[in-house]
Amino acid sequence: MNQALRSTEILKRFTLITGKGGVGKSTLAAVLALVSAKRGHKTLVCELNTHERVSRLLGHEPAGSSIKKLEDNLWSVNINPSEAMQEYGLMKLKFRAFYRLVFENPLVGALVRFIPGINDLLMLGKAFNHEREVDQNGQPVWDRIIIDAPATGHSLTFFTLPKVIMNAVPSGNMHRESHDMWSLLADPARCGIHLVSLPEELPIQETMELFSALTEDIQLPVSTVFLNQVPAPAIPRHLSDDFDQWVDAPSDEVIKPLWDAGKLRQQHVNDSNRFLKKLERLDCPVICLPMQYGIDFGRREIDALAQTIDEAITTRD
Ligand SMILES: Nc1ncnc2c1ncn2[C@@H]1O[C@H](COP(=O)(O)OP(=O)(O)OP(=O)(O)O)[C@@H](O)[C@H]1O
Ligand SMILES: [Mg+2]
Repeated sequence: MNQALRSTEILKRFTLITGKGGVGKSTLAAVLALVSAKRGHKTLVCELNTHERVSRLLGHEPAGSSIKKLEDNLWSVNINPSEAMQEYGLMKLKFRAFYRLVFENPLVGALVRFIPGINDLLMLGKAFNHEREVDQNGQPVWDRIIIDAPATGHSLTFFTLPKVIMNAVPSGNMHRESHDMWSLLADPARCGIHLVSLPEELPIQETMELFSALTEDIQLPVSTVFLNQVPAPAIPRHLSDDFDQWVDAPSDEVIKPLWDAGKLRQQHVNDSNRFLKKLERLDCPVICLPMQYGIDFGRREIDALAQTIDEAITTRD
C-alpha cells in the first residue's frame, strides 16, 4: 500500500526526476506529466538532450527542440545545448561575457574544470527560464514543469553547478542567474527532486548514496523516492503461507514449471519488500510503482501507472 500524499508533494511547480540509468526516469516523467495535465495543470515536460522518450511513451511523435502540444494541458520539449545557448546562455547569462571572464581571469580559472557541465547548466537554465515565463497579463505560462534529469553520477554535477557558479562568480548576471536557480532548487515549496529506484541490490544502494549526497553534501531536499517495477505477488495473499511452506518441487511435468515460476516470483516479491523497507528508512515518502507485465511498454502502461499515482494522491487531497 502506497503512502498517501498530497498532489502538491508530488507535483511541485518545478519537478526534477533523477536516478540510475534505465530505472524508469523517463517513464516517471511521462506518468507525472499525464497526472498533472489530467488535473488541469498546464504542464511542460522537458527532456535534456536525449534520444526523446517521453512523448513516445505517451503515444505521440517526438516533440523535438521546439515546444510541442501533445494533448490537453500537456506540452513537451527536448532541450538541446545549442538551443539552450541561444535562448538562455546568450540572452540571460550574457554568456560571451562569462566566457571571457572564465578564460581571461585567472581568479575564476578554477571554474574551467566545470565547463563540461556548462551544457547542463544551460539546459537547466532554459527549463528554469520556462518557470519564469509569463504571458501578456503577467500570469505564469506554465503551471507545472517536469524535467527528466540526467542519470546518477552525472546528476550530482548537474545539481551542484548552480551553487558552484554562484559562489565562483561574485557578481553580475551569471551570479544572479545561478543564485536564482539555486534558490529554486533548494526551495521545497516550489521544487521537487524525485529519485527513481528498482527493487534490486545495486540500484537501491545507489539510491541511498544519491539521497545522502543530495541531502547532506549538496544540501538539496529530496521530495519522493519512487520504487519502480515492484513485482505483484504470484499467489493470492490467503494462499501465500501455504505456498511458502511447499518446499518440495512437484514431480508433475505440467505443475512443476508453474511451481518454479511461482517460487521465482515470490522470491522477487520478498526481495522487493526487503528493499522497500530499506528505502523507508530514508527521511522522505516512498511510492511504489507496480511492474507492468506485458510485451510492450507504452501508453497503456503509462495510464496504469498514472492511476497508481492518482490513487496515492486522491486519498489525501
Ligand atoms: N513499471 C514498469 N513496469 C514494466 N516495465 C517498466 C516499468 N518502468 C519502466 N519499465 C521498462 O524500463 C524501460 C526503461 O525505462 P525508462 O526509459 O523510463 O528508464 P530511464 O531511467 O529513463 O532510462 P535512461 O537512463 O536510459 O534514460 C522502459 O522502456 C520499460 O520497458
Ligand atoms: Mg530516460
